[in-house]
Amino acid sequence: MLELRSVSLQRDDNEIIKNLSAVFRDGHVYAVLGNNGVGKSTLAYIIMGLESYRNYSGSVVFNGQAIDDFTVSERAKLGITLGWQEPCRFDGITVKEYLTLGGKRELSSERIAEVLDIVGLPKDYLFRAVDSTLSGGERKRIELASVILLDPKVVVLDEPDSGIDLMSTSMINRVFDALSDNGTTLIVITHREEIASMAEEAYLMCGGNMIKNGDPEEIIAYYRTACDDCRHVNEPLKKVN
Ligand SMILES: Nc1ncnc2c1ncn2[C@@H]1O[C@H](COP(=O)(O)OP(=O)(O)OP(=O)(O)O)[C@@H](O)[C@H]1O
Ligand SMILES: [Mg+2]
Repeated sequence: MLELRSVSLQRDDNEIIKNLSAVFRDGHVYAVLGNNGVGKSTLAYIIMGLESYRNYSGSVVFNGQAIDDFTVSERAKLGITLGWQEPCRFDGITVKEYLTLGGKRELSSERIAEVLDIVGLPKDYLFRAVDSTLSGGERKRIELASVILLDPKVVVLDEPDSGIDLMSTSMINRVFDALSDNGTTLIVITHREEIASMAEEAYLMCGGNMIKNGDPEEIIAYYRTACDDCRHVNEPLKKVN
């Protein structure tokens, strides 16, 4: 189980995460919804423990252990992974090298081809370079393939559908299934209702806090009504009922 206990993070004069608490139970699929700038990616970086986000207060607890002093690589060793909103590009590395961590992971060609198929790419992409010659959507698909192959215990997918065409919702569903089938806890940051409705539980984030959680359909309905015209990125929403 991954728990966030009263987590806050200050940047310049703004508190961009405010006393945020949430619980993510093992093997479940969660959606985190919220408008631009409410702190979703920041929350992902805090969970992953990125160096410049480690000065938060409160606690991130993984299987009962506070991991606030753990670095990114120590958290990765525990099985925590991040699928980036904007995946990085690496000049001079092939997709195969990227997916096998430069050959450090022994993965059969069949397994890699199977995962490329899940993300909708033919296996000849293995020999493409992970550089600017890949389209944004192809890069995002490769990022999703790498997350599946890591077989994480917990993964935060930061807008897995961004840059992916609207017709590929079933591909995203296959990615979630592949991860869930291995018992991975999924925390999916998204703006899209179709993606959020694939989750078992949803959180609504506003002004750096989780303001509501529950059944995805209820949270989506609330998000649609209460957040539609709201642009108060640094203030919590007023409760509508
Ligand atoms: N290093 C920083 N310094 C100052 N402000 C920052 C910093 N990083 C993020 N912020 C601000 O914190 C807020 C939350 O940013 P974050 O990227 O987490 O939002 P988000 O919910 O992921 O948005 P989006 O939906 O656009 O991806 C934004 O207002 C952003 O401008
Ligand atoms: Mg973001």
